[in-house]
Amino acid sequence: MTIEILTVLPELLESPFAHSILKRANEKGLLQVRLHSLRKWAVNDYGQVDDYQYGGGAGMVMMCEPLASAIEALAGEKKFDEVIYMTPDGERLNQRIANQLSLKENLLIICGHYKGIDERIREHYITREISIGDYVLSGGELPAAILVDAIGRLIPGVLNDETSALFDSFQDNLLAPPVYTRPAIFRDWKVPDILLSGDPKKVDEWRHEQSLFRTSRRRPDLLDDEGL
Ligand code: ADE
Repeated sequence: MTIEILTVLPELLESPFAHSILKRANEKGLLQVRLHSLRKWAVNDYGQVDDYQYGGGAGMVMMCEPLASAIEALAGEKKFDEVIYMTPDGERLNQRIANQLSLKENLLIICGHYKGIDERIREHYITREISIGDYVLSGGELPAAILVDAIGRLIPGVLNDETSALFDSFQDNLLAPPVYTRPAIFRDWKVPDILLSGDPKKVDEWRHEQSLFRTSRRRPDLLDDEGL
């Protein structure tokens, strides 16, 4: 899979993809993330990519011209399955969306800034708008990093058996069960006996019960969800 990210702050996104699982995905050739500075398509030598909004009001708006030129230049190299705009008024990211997107070949992600991007770009180029939650960040870069992380770890072959996403919270609309590691007794806090029983069937049953219990306590809404 390839993911192109268009941003005014590429430096902000260098680190998240240079470590751990996403770094490994890149080394295995399973995920290539490329960062593109929107200023390359600026309207003048000052690197301008935003302007005042029509109708007045505080805050700048990212201009059509640099965005359209950048999107067209990138789309000239390959066909994108989705052109995604990160915005607080998009559909809220969840595991179902991450699963869907992990099956695509080529994605383009646009990071907004200031007041957002000119509406005409949304109408004519964007195929999907995604929010990471009901709060406003100062730009779309951190949301883009979160989206790429959520997608990247689901690409077949990225995780090994040990880190498999199959048992993640949300993967079957249930939260993950509690986990423990050595020592079996820390202070006088004991690991549940069943996990030390050596009986995989019982362990699986216990984990499933714990998942159900935890989900009904913490996120009962997930149990009524239509599923992934
Ligand atoms: N840009 C600013 N806030 C955002 C959010 N919550 N989700 C996605 N993009 C954003």
